[in-house]
Amino acid sequence: MSRSSEAGVVGLRAGGRGLRARVAARVGAVLATLLLLSGWFLPGAQAAPPPWAGIGRAATPAEIQAWDIDVRADFKGLPAGSGSVARGQEVWEDKCASCHGIFGESNEVFSPIVGGTTAQDLLTGRVANLKRTDYPQRTTLMKVSQISTLWDYISRAMPWNAPKSLSTDDVYAVLAYMLHLGDVLPADHVLSDRNIAQAQQRLPNRNGKVTYRGLWEPTGKPDVQGDACMRQCATVVEVATPLPEFARNAHGNLAEQNRVVGPFRGADTTRPPARDPLRLAAAAGTQSATAQVQVARGAAAKAPADLARDAACLACHSVARKLVGPSFREIAQRYQNDPKAEQRLAATVRNGGQGNWGSVPMPASALLKDDELLSVVRWVLGAAR
Ligand code: HEC
Ligand code: HEC
Repeated sequence: MSRSSEAGVVGLRAGGRGLRARVAARVGAVLATLLLLSGWFLPGAQAAPPPWAGIGRAATPAEIQAWDIDVRADFKGLPAGSGSVARGQEVWEDKCASCHGIFGESNEVFSPIVGGTTAQDLLTGRVANLKRTDYPQRTTLMKVSQISTLWDYISRAMPWNAPKSLSTDDVYAVLAYMLHLGDVLPADHVLSDRNIAQAQQRLPNRNGKVTYRGLWEPTGKPDVQGDACMRQCATVVEVATPLPEFARNAHGNLAEQNRVVGPFRGADTTRPPARDPLRLAAAAGTQSATAQVQVARGAAAKAPADLARDAACLACHSVARKLVGPSFREIAQRYQNDPKAEQRLAATVRNGGQGNWGSVPMPASALLKDDELLSVVRWVLGAAR
């Protein structure tokens, strides 16, 4: 079997057709053979099959259900379940506090979740501190206007190092605990699909969402129109109102901080919005913009520093300063007399680690090939010099 299929592929390749046509023909031939063998073949159907005939299959209802997890503002899509504030505290301390702080105040890296809201805000549904330019922080509970957004976000994206690992009940529980920390829900509350609409009515900024103005220019157009695009969609997302200079790079280069999955990379915020066609194309691609520009410009094998950036190491590490993880210099100093450090640390980075430097975990990283990973670790270990 394997030999005949190899021969088939070689023959088809010699025919010089496109990859899809070749695969289709190959799969079609196999299917036709199977149909013939099983006696299901019906002669007489003459219409030319579409080029994708025989490729793939319809998704099963269970598969669609597994993807269809979004929760709408009107709570369509919200699964039934419940969780208490008390259980939520356990989940929070176990799975969230290492990054977001015991009280949601967050550590030096992550933006705070709780704080800045008052009892008066609960009544008005508008967070007064948002209007103050001298107020130091904007927390999640100050800004969020829809409780469904929190439910959906936690359920699909948190904990950051293990998204989608929480049970439905634990999402309710941890959300109840966060809202309790913000004085939205009492300590003995059990949040559920049946009473979440009431919790929405106590969200401090529930009336704070407006859609009639631009984010940066109060008289400008709204930034987000919310049209669902199905074809000929823009490949680069542009906001309608320009980001003021002070805001563009306020949190460091977004291109280096975003996850390296998904259709849109973070923009390179170290410079004004791209007009260079190469960078526009790269921004819509699947690798980081800088990586693609390098590919497009024919750069040679990548330097370890670039690999570290592309693999998102620099979202959590810097050479000289502690960020989420220890600085590369500290790591190099700790292991400078350890001849086995290189292999061991490569394994740690590959599989993730925790406890050698503190309680914040390092997630596993599958992005680099083995030799690339080794070259990055070698570079990290050279950081002491
Ligand atoms: C390893 C660190 C880490 C852990 C653990 C973690 N988070 Fe997060 N969390 C993040 C990061 C980073 C972001 C911002 C992500 C982004 O913008 O893509 C975030 C964002 C959030 C936000 C949105 C904040 C906002 O205003 O946009 C919520 C809510 C949240 N996390 C809840 C949780 C909950 C609940 C848990 C535990 C079940 C948890 N997180 C565990 C790192 C973490
Ligand atoms: C989400 C944040 C995050 C990312 C991304 C990340 N790290 Fe880490 N890294 C950490 C944290 C936190 C620690 C400390 C873990 C501990 O206490 O054991 C750490 C520890 C390390 C260590 C020392 C491990 C030890 O056991 O002493 C090395 C080496 C390292 N990281 C390299 C990398 C490299 C290379 C990458 C990119 C492939 C990377 N890290 C990506 C957060 C991160």
